[in-house]
Amino acid sequence: MAARKAVESFSKLIEEVPRWGAMKPTGVSLRYMMEFGSKPNDKNLMIAAQFLHKELPIRIARRALELESLPYGLSETSAVLKVRDWYLDSFRDVRLFPEIRDSNDELAFTEMIKMIRLRHNHVVPTMALGVQQLKKDWGPNASLEELDEIHRLLDRFYLSRIGIRMLIGQHVALHDPDPQPGVVGQIHSKMSPMEAAEIASQDARAICYREYGSAPDVQIYGDPNFTFPYVPTHLHLMVFELVKNSLRAVQERYMSSEIDPVPVRIIVADGIEDVTIKISDEGGGIPRRGLPKLFSYLYSTAENNLNELFNGGANAGVTMAGYGYGIPISRLYARYFGGDLQILSMEGYGTDAYLHLSRLGDSQEPLA
Ligand SMILES: Nc1ncnc2c1ncn2[C@@H]1O[C@H](COP(=O)(O)OP(=O)(O)OP(=O)(O)O)[C@@H](O)[C@H]1O
Ligand SMILES: [Mg+2]
Repeated sequence: MAARKAVESFSKLIEEVPRWGAMKPTGVSLRYMMEFGSKPNDKNLMIAAQFLHKELPIRIARRALELESLPYGLSETSAVLKVRDWYLDSFRDVRLFPEIRDSNDELAFTEMIKMIRLRHNHVVPTMALGVQQLKKDWGPNASLEELDEIHRLLDRFYLSRIGIRMLIGQHVALHDPDPQPGVVGQIHSKMSPMEAAEIASQDARAICYREYGSAPDVQIYGDPNFTFPYVPTHLHLMVFELVKNSLRAVQERYMSSEIDPVPVRIIVADGIEDVTIKISDEGGGIPRRGLPKLFSYLYSTAENNLNELFNGGANAGVTMAGYGYGIPISRLYARYFGGDLQILSMEGYGTDAYLHLSRLGDSQEPLA
């Protein structure tokens, strides 16, 4: 009896998805998050939770609907159905949560959205698996337009996911009872890009070491005292991905050579509008023909171990390369706060990645 009731109330809730999905999401800028989060007292946390209580179902419903109407049969792949169910479960969790009236409600709500974030941890590789299933069916006959359409959809979908995770992560992080000076939730108002680049490079080198038994040096140039407001985890992710690519290219090029590998160079420039981080390597570059494919979620020259990741195989986890979305995902993280990523290459010599980060942080979230 209770089970039937639960099923009935679940399907009632699911009927609400189109209505919520039709509502307009509200964008939040980095600056706004920083100002709002600078006084995380009980009252402000309650206001923030009440906002999320209304905002999250809108954003989640929009993505659930999108997942149901993907082209080329992508919506019917088992991987995408799984992701869609995660979104529906999360929609239900937020909608079933009663009105937030006091601090206890707020704490319970925070625990619940923490769970949601955990549930969605593997959305990106799972979606990639779905796209791969489709690609296999297509064989080599997929047209450029078809691929383009899939890329645009995935870009929009992942960008929105970054937004949802930022909102949840920020709210959860504001509960830290003893934040470091300058830290507002996930934002560091005085983040040193050099320091962040150093940590990300060390992490990338550690993985390179694990896979190849050695790792080229990474040299970082810039003003060590320069800081600006940004989200350190986002910068870490981007620099980590780009350095990993550079290390792999350099390592592969020099592996069977007597000469010592040329270090990867990172240059941090603080402009008025942008902070730009250039990651340069002499790893032999990328053929011009391959450049347009760089931002594709379907392109990698590494052996693909998505299936292994999915099945929790021995090599599951972070590897040097293999999924083909290091570059496109990094660009989305940059764009999320108004920045961008460009890649230039000289075939036969090396590659330069320009990571532009918007300094003002005023840009509104890109919403879809
Ligand atoms: N610095 C570089 N030098 C040479 N080739 C590069 C460089 N950066 C990227 N590439 C090429 O672009 C491809 C795509 O890079 P991307 O980071 O998106 O995916 P990946 O490294 O293959 O896998 P992962 O998802 O694990 O990052 C790589 O497989 C590689 O062939
Ligand atoms: Mg990569």
